[in-house]
Amino acid sequence: MHEQHFEIAEGGYADYAELARGLESLLAGEPDLISCAANMTSLIYYGLPDLNWVGFYLLDAASGDLLVGPFQGRPACVRIPLGRGVCGTAAAERRTVLVADVHAFPGHIACDAASRSELVVPVIAGGQLIGVLDLDSPRLARFDVDDARGIESLVEVFVRAVRA
Ligand code: SME
Repeated sequence: MHEQHFEIAEGGYADYAELARGLESLLAGEPDLISCAANMTSLIYYGLPDLNWVGFYLLDAASGDLLVGPFQGRPACVRIPLGRGVCGTAAAERRTVLVADVHAFPGHIACDAASRSELVVPVIAGGQLIGVLDLDSPRLARFDVDDARGIESLVEVFVRAVRA
């Protein structure tokens, strides 16, 4: 019987490089996008402190909207048009969006009232937008530029894994 066990150190991972290595082994050998996305959100949610929501919004080819995908946290808004909210902005502009105070972001879509800051990274594979990865925190200014680069590196691991 094949058994996999993932240690998550008390207090989370030492740094993003360690988390990236953990993600690589978690996703190894399975290219299914939904399965990899599901495990990735769990790894981040339980591996980093001060998060209340971590999940993917995936681009729906039929409608052109973002649809909620695998996530950890409270139930969330299902559909976000491109260009709307933090997620729709990151997707439309294909860039990482760091929001220190969600109440100060025009058009922010409140899913969990506990969210105070947010980090959204676009997921792009082979030049195509797949969706975004969204992290929410109950703490103001929870995310900085190091978090943005760190989560971008995790998204790169994910994109490599699902294209394999
Ligand atoms: N706040 C996001 C919506 C998604 S939830 O945070 C899970 C936004 O403004 O796009």
